[in-house]
Amino acid sequence: MEAADDLPSNPSDAPRFAAVLNRRAVMKGGLAAAAALGATGLVPFTGPAAKADSSASGFTFEEIEAGIDATHHVAPGYDADILIRWGDPVTSDAPAFDPMNQNAEAQSRQFGYNNDFVGIVPLSDDRALLCVNHEYTNEELMFPGLGDQEAVDFKDMTADLVAIEKAAHGASVVEIRRGATGKLVVVPGGAYNRRITADTPMRVGGPAAGHARLRTAADPTGTLVLGTFNNCAGGITPWGTYLMAEENFHGYFQGDDAALAAHPHAASLKRYGVPGGWYAWGRFDTRFDIAREPNEPHRFGWIVEVDPKDPTSTPVKRTALGRFKHEGAETILNGDGRVVVYMGDDQRFDYVYRFVSDKVVDPDNPAANRDILDSGELSVARFEADGTIVWMPLVHGTGPLTVENGFASQADVMIDTRLAADALGATPMDRPEDVQPNPVTGRVYVMLTNNTKRAADQRNAANPRAENGYGHIVEIAAPHGDHAAREMTWDMLVLCGDPKGDVGAQWGPGTTANGWFTAPDNAAVDPGGRLWVSTDGNRPGSHSNRCDGLWAMDTEGPARGSGRHFFRCPVGAEMCGPVFTADGETLFLAVQHPADAGVSKWAEFDRPSSFDDPATRWPDFQDGMPPRPSVVMVTKRGGGRIG
Ligand code: FEO
Ligand code: CA
Ligand code: CA
Repeated sequence: MEAADDLPSNPSDAPRFAAVLNRRAVMKGGLAAAAALGATGLVPFTGPAAKADSSASGFTFEEIEAGIDATHHVAPGYDADILIRWGDPVTSDAPAFDPMNQNAEAQSRQFGYNNDFVGIVPLSDDRALLCVNHEYTNEELMFPGLGDQEAVDFKDMTADLVAIEKAAHGASVVEIRRGATGKLVVVPGGAYNRRITADTPMRVGGPAAGHARLRTAADPTGTLVLGTFNNCAGGITPWGTYLMAEENFHGYFQGDDAALAAHPHAASLKRYGVPGGWYAWGRFDTRFDIAREPNEPHRFGWIVEVDPKDPTSTPVKRTALGRFKHEGAETILNGDGRVVVYMGDDQRFDYVYRFVSDKVVDPDNPAANRDILDSGELSVARFEADGTIVWMPLVHGTGPLTVENGFASQADVMIDTRLAADALGATPMDRPEDVQPNPVTGRVYVMLTNNTKRAADQRNAANPRAENGYGHIVEIAAPHGDHAAREMTWDMLVLCGDPKGDVGAQWGPGTTANGWFTAPDNAAVDPGGRLWVSTDGNRPGSHSNRCDGLWAMDTEGPARGSGRHFFRCPVGAEMCGPVFTADGETLFLAVQHPADAGVSKWAEFDRPSSFDDPATRWPDFQDGMPPRPSVVMVTKRGGGRIG
C-alpha cells in the first residue's frame, strides 16, 4: 500500500522552484538552510548527539530499542494488551473467528481487516465507543492456499473471496467499558456495536449531492452510494461523530486503456489514478468496472461522517470537504465556534487542505450540528518561502475556477478538487498524511511521509530535500489561534532519517540512536498537549532498517524536535491509530498488516509471507492461526498518565 499509493499523478510543476528553496533558506536560516545544503551534500551533517539533553524533554518514559523481530515491544513499566483482533465478534450475532472457514456473512459481523484510524467517542466516565477504520485487505495473508494474487492477475479470486474482502473493509464501532481489572475491555455484542462495509448504504451530502457525475444505473439520484473503502485515518468531531477518510479509492476500479480513453472525464480519472486495478472486485461487481459504470469512481474519495451513537444511522459522504486521497480529517473547534478540519491528500506532490464550516457548532445540541459539514469553505495551502501559508479558497466562480476552465459549478470544484487546487497553484508536498491540530497550543502538525520522486529542481521551502525517502514534519501556527485565518505561518519541526547519515536529517538534541525514525504517518496529541508520531515505512531493508512504531516528539523548549521510541510493531506491520483517552491513562494503537511489508528482506525470513507461511503469527502465535491486524491498548502499570 505504501509503495503503491505514492505514484505521482500531479503534472503541475508551477510552484516547484529551487529559487524558492534558496530564498527560504536565506530568510529562515538554520534548519532549513542546513537541511537544504546537507541534502545536496554541500555541507557535512554535524549531529546533535554529543550535546544531548534529555532532561529538557517533556517525556520521562524509558525509551525502547529500535529493531526488528516477530512481536511488539512497549516502554518498560507499561502493558500493551491486545484489545481486539481481525475476526473477533463485533455484533451480537457474530460467530467466532474460523480462519479456515471464512465467509462474508461472518466477516460482516466480525472485526474487519487492517485496522487504521482509532477514535474514541465517550458515553460516560467508564464507557465509550471505539471507532476503527479497516483500510484494506491482503489476500495472501487472509486466505489459506491463495498466495499473492496481484502477480497472477487475480486469477484465483472468486466471488466468495471478493465478498469477504468487501466485508472486511470499512469500519467497526465497538463499545468499550472499564473491566474488573480496571482496564478497558470490549463489549462483544454491545448495543452500539456495528460494522460498516464496502456495501453499506450511504447518503451523499453537500454541493456534489445529486450531481449528474454521481448518478449511476443503480442510483439515478446520485445521492445513495453503496459503501466506503480504503478508509485510512479520520477524526472525531466536537459533536461526537466519526469521520472516515477515503484514501486510495482508485485501486478498487478496473478498466483498460481503451475504457479510460473513452471515459467522459478521462483527464479527471487520470489525475486521481483511476483505474488502479489493485483488486478483482470489478470482475464480480460491475460498479468497479469503469467501462460498465463510468460514474462510480466519482462516488469515492470523500470524507464519510458516521453517528456512532445511532447504530441504525446512515453514514453521509460530506462532499463539501473535497474529493482526493484523504488521509485523515482531524478537527479543531475554532475560537469563533466554527469547526475547522485539516486534511492531507496522500500522494507524492499533492496538497494540504483545510475546511472551515459556515455555521458555529452548538455544543449543547448535537442535532443542530448534524449537517454542519455540508456548508463551508474548503481551501488549499500555498507554503511561501518566507514562512507564510496562504489558504486559497476552492470556490466556484473565483480566480481560475470558472466555466471556461471546466468547472461548471461548485459540485465540479469538489468532484475535481485536485484539478481545482492545481489551477490555484497549491504547493506540491512530500505526501501529506495526518494533519494534526494541537488544541492545547493551537499549532498544527503536518506529517509528510516521503517522496523519493522529488528532483532537486522540484524542491521548495516546505519540501527541502530531493529524493526524500525519509519524510519530515511541518508545524503550522495559526495567528492568535484563529484556524479560519486566511494566512498562517509555518516552520520545520524535524527532517527525518538517520542523524548520523548524510541524508540531511535534523533532530532535536535529545534524540538517541533509537529515537529517530523515517516515514511519519499518523499523529496524536495527548491531553497534556504533547505530540506522538506513528510511522509507516520503517521495515527490513528500508532506510532505517527498523520496525515501524510510535515515537514521542518534543515540540517545546530546548528538546524541540527530539524523538523517543515508545512502541515497536511486529515485523511487517505499520503503526496506525494512536489515540489517548481524555485522562491520558490509556493509549490505543492499531497494528496494521503484520507479517507484510519488507519481510522478505528480514534476515530471519527471506521469502514471501503468506497465510500458510507468515513471517510472524502475531498476536496469537498459534499454529494454523494467521497474523491478525489488531488494536493494542497501552496502560501504565500501577496507573497514571502515559509518557
Ligand atoms: Fe493509508 Fe496515507 O496511509
Ligand atoms: Ca496512513
Ligand atoms: Ca491523528
